[in-house]
Amino acid sequence: MTELPHIKSLRGGTTAAIAAADLDLKTALAQETARRWFARTLSMRSPRDPVLPARPGRPERPELIPPRHMEKRSLHTLKGRIALLHALAHIELNAVDLALDIVARFTTERVPHSFFDGWMQVAFEEAKHFRLIRDRLRDLGADYGDLPAHDGLWQAAHDTRNDLTARLAVVPLILEARGLDVTPTLQAKMRETGDDASADILDIIYNDEKGHVAVGAKWFRFLCAREKKDPSATFRELVRTNFRGPLKPPFNDVARAEAGLTPSFYRSLVSVSQS
Ligand SMILES: [Fe+2]
Ligand SMILES: [Fe+2]
Repeated sequence: MTELPHIKSLRGGTTAAIAAADLDLKTALAQETARRWFARTLSMRSPRDPVLPARPGRPERPELIPPRHMEKRSLHTLKGRIALLHALAHIELNAVDLALDIVARFTTERVPHSFFDGWMQVAFEEAKHFRLIRDRLRDLGADYGDLPAHDGLWQAAHDTRNDLTARLAVVPLILEARGLDVTPTLQAKMRETGDDASADILDIIYNDEKGHVAVGAKWFRFLCAREKKDPSATFRELVRTNFRGPLKPPFNDVARAEAGLTPSFYRSLVSVSQS
């Protein structure tokens, strides 16, 4: 078990987790900060909190490359399944840092404490997801870091660092909602190949991710209501100014709606971004 440094506050714990390059330490700090926050033994901030780093701490490997260089492989080969799990591990690792970043960066925002409950729950689960996938990679004789990974996710989110409403539009409502669209198909393919252990992990992730989109939609609507703005129109506007690239159908309308993300948010963005 990794020795944890002393966690002084919510902002201190989340910032230390973001900065940690050792991924056992990062995920342990994320989960322990969440536990202490839920036990109400942490203050929001402390005068001695570390400064938020510009980039999250990462190990030397994997090598980070532009997304277009990623190879696509069939899931019917072990190599292909390892490549997919590796890509998912990388997404989950980014998700850990992104959830922590929403907390650490916006502890100065005027929002109810339950805002931070929601995001610490997300951070806790993203850390769980990363560990589940990493353990599965190890079972298959591989590990996170063996293959290159793409570096677009952090940048997409980092661009919204000064605007919480824009951050929620991009991270939970675009990136995580995209996970709801693609996961059921991946899961089915994993089952087809007979890799039930990996499919079971995707099942856990899929169910948790519905909750993450729901947390995003809840607080996005809260911020819009406070500003007396229409949520779906605001979402579309923020996506156009803050997100490069189209929203890709097919959408998982049922799972999205369950999470509070109705088609009025995203339908019209498909044609707009493709024109
Ligand atoms: Fe996740
Ligand atoms: Fe998530």
